[in-house]
Amino acid sequence: MKELSYSILSSDFSNLELDLENIFNSGVKYLHYDVMDGHFVNNISFGPHILSTINKKHNLINDVHLMITNPKDYVEQFAKAKADIITFHYEAINSDNEIIDLINYIHSFGCKCGISIKPNTPVEAIIKYLPMIDLVLVMSVEPGFGGQSFILNSYKKIGDLDTFRKNKGLNYIIEVDGGIKSDNAKAIFNSGANLLVCGSYLAKATDKKVAVSLILGE
Ligand code: DX5
Ligand code: ZN
Repeated sequence: MKELSYSILSSDFSNLELDLENIFNSGVKYLHYDVMDGHFVNNISFGPHILSTINKKHNLINDVHLMITNPKDYVEQFAKAKADIITFHYEAINSDNEIIDLINYIHSFGCKCGISIKPNTPVEAIIKYLPMIDLVLVMSVEPGFGGQSFILNSYKKIGDLDTFRKNKGLNYIIEVDGGIKSDNAKAIFNSGANLLVCGSYLAKATDKKVAVSLILGE
């Protein structure tokens, strides 16, 4: 699987409808919602209302990235707002039991569950949860803002996750998020990733279709 998830964080919110029209017609299959609470990360973005209103305009897969403390408190609201995938941060949870409970809680709403790790969090920290989840989100930038540069140690993390997936016969999606452009997408896919998040690269592209085909190597 090689797909692209557009992060609406980089959109022109003064012209959102036109912005997203172009995205919807570009070949992107996932819409990535970067939810930020100003506490887990030093930025505030948007809540479930944006998700539910935009959802009326498309049938892309709603890929919700919770960069928030207490993610369990918001699962129901995002599930009701039509999240298809709800991804929380490993670093936002304090115990093993809480993580397992949250994975089950997200699944109880019929949503797929992802775990995200920040650049300084090793893959080893989430190994035990990989058989239980549908997606791993490797942060290739420090969470909080679009427009940053891809952190190169992400390649090894992606490769390790791909090797583990093959060795254990698992099928979680490896999603990578941050600093992805046409000049590094091929190497990121080749290291084992399936789903790449693009924000600023696509937001700035004049021809979204061409930009998407450059990322997908078509
Ligand atoms: C950062 C977000 C990313 C970001 C991607 O905290 O999780 O999804 O918006 O933006 P670019 O593609 O510009 O790095
Ligand atoms: Zn994100």
